[in-house]
Amino acid sequence: MSEERKIQGRSEYGKASLSEEDAGMDPMKLFLAWLDEAERTGQPEHNTMMLSTVGSMSISCRVVLLRQADDRGFVFYTNYNSRKAMDLERDPRAALTFFWPALERQVRVEGRTVKVPAEESDAYFASRPRESRIGAWSSDQSRVVEDRATMDERFRRWSERFEGKEVPRPEHWGGFLVRPVRIELWQGRENRLHDRFAYERFQDGSWQRMRLQP
Ligand SMILES: Cc1cc2nc3c(=O)[nH]c(=O)nc-3n(C[C@H](O)[C@H](O)[C@H](O)COP(=O)(O)O)c2cc1C
Repeated sequence: MSEERKIQGRSEYGKASLSEEDAGMDPMKLFLAWLDEAERTGQPEHNTMMLSTVGSMSISCRVVLLRQADDRGFVFYTNYNSRKAMDLERDPRAALTFFWPALERQVRVEGRTVKVPAEESDAYFASRPRESRIGAWSSDQSRVVEDRATMDERFRRWSERFEGKEVPRPEHWGGFLVRPVRIELWQGRENRLHDRFAYERFQDGSWQRMRLQP
């Protein structure tokens, strides 16, 4: 018989609030202010986000790092042959979720992805530590591997190959931009009456804002 487990854990929220006035009409501006606050107040891994993609058989979700955020949207970097990239090739729709527990804040994004221009991926790749750049050459992300030793051996061989040389960006590695069509900012409040503002983007780039029930 399987073990039954009741899961404990229940927090009361109420550290902050989000009014119409504070929220404003530009969700990217508000997101960037929240991201800055998360960094300034030392939230661990403040730039991590859950990325959900649609596959042919199922939906999948994983953590990636936000590397750029601006009026265009949200940029992360990955292997263009990975499972997530294959999903996005088939269906560019994606969802992102940020969660900063100590700030009692969640941000949800829905949008469509495009690859960032090659020069932008080049510039970011060049800024990474050398070992990470060699790692990008060594790993066929999402593929099955025999054992750990095979991976270590592959890393060693690529390190040898690049000895004394610059490590260029592999073509199969680069950025995706998630262009948002909907952004929701959520602030935990007392009695589960949280503040939620959802924004939907019009064709002309302007945003419509709605307050949602918690
Ligand atoms: C904190 C954290 C940060 C991560 N950042 C990235 C990232 O920026 N890019 C990436 O490709 N994978 C990142 N990963 C690994 C992914 O979660 C995932 O395992 C990998 O991308 C393969 O996913 P896929 O097989 O669905 O394509 C990160 C994992 C964690 C836990």
